Amino acid sequence: MSTGRTVGQDTVLRILGGTADDYDRIVDESTGKLDHRWKQWMLERMEAPREVLDLASGTGILSFLILDRFPDCHLTGVDLQADYQAVARGRSEQRGLTERTTWVHSPVEDAELPDGHYDLVTSCYVPKYADRPVLAANLWRWCAPGAHVLLHDFTHPQDPRIERYLKKQYDLWLAKVQRDHPHWVHCFEDLYDIVKDSPWATDFGPLLEAQGFVDVQLHSLNNGLAAVLEARKPS
Ligand SMILES: C[S@@+](CC[C@H](N)C(=O)[O-])C[C@H]1O[C@@H](n2cnc3c(N)ncnc32)[C@H](O)[C@@H]1O
Repeated sequence: MSTGRTVGQDTVLRILGGTADDYDRIVDESTGKLDHRWKQWMLERMEAPREVLDLASGTGILSFLILDRFPDCHLTGVDLQADYQAVARGRSEQRGLTERTTWVHSPVEDAELPDGHYDLVTSCYVPKYADRPVLAANLWRWCAPGAHVLLHDFTHPQDPRIERYLKKQYDLWLAKVQRDHPHWVHCFEDLYDIVKDSPWATDFGPLLEAQGFVDVQLHSLNNGLAAVLEARKPS
């Protein structure tokens, strides 16, 4: 349930439950491959990490891009949905990456992870869902000195023409999933308003600064359809 600031885990389970098997294809198609471009944008900013924490790692789309790009790193993925994480675990077994990966089944708010351990923390699509004050405090605790943080999510575009275009895309996708993929209907019914109502892009940066993070910057991408919040823990 939404608390105003936080969408909540029950909403996540309601809108994404049962979608693990075709998640990768639907996110790729419904974003017109922007999801892949946004992840590539994040990869370009990474600096040969050793210990990576990927929050809300889902089926592991970003996790495996990072593991491929940086062959010396170890990655810990945290996600609250067991079926999404089962896909990620299966992929790491198929690809011989079990020794380089740890999968933690937990909400990011409650995950038990080592303090001061990670030199890169990433996430795609968790800022709008998570309890951000709790997550900001956890990030501070889990990050090693000098750690780099890259948190990506959808944002609601300010330009009315882009906003109209986006709403039309959601409506088209809702009609398509009602016809072909009914297990996605809750997601396409609710996601537009969840993103529109989320203050994550304005409230999360100040929460990170209040913890002590520096160089906090919000990078707006593709006409305000998404953003990446970047920060560092001082060395
Ligand atoms: C849209 S999927 C994105 C998955 C992955 N990051 C990607 O980009 O492919 C959102 C993911 O966030 C997870 N999630 C949402 N809120 C969460 C929370 N509070 N703690 C842990 N995982 C969460 C969901 O279970 C889901 O796997």
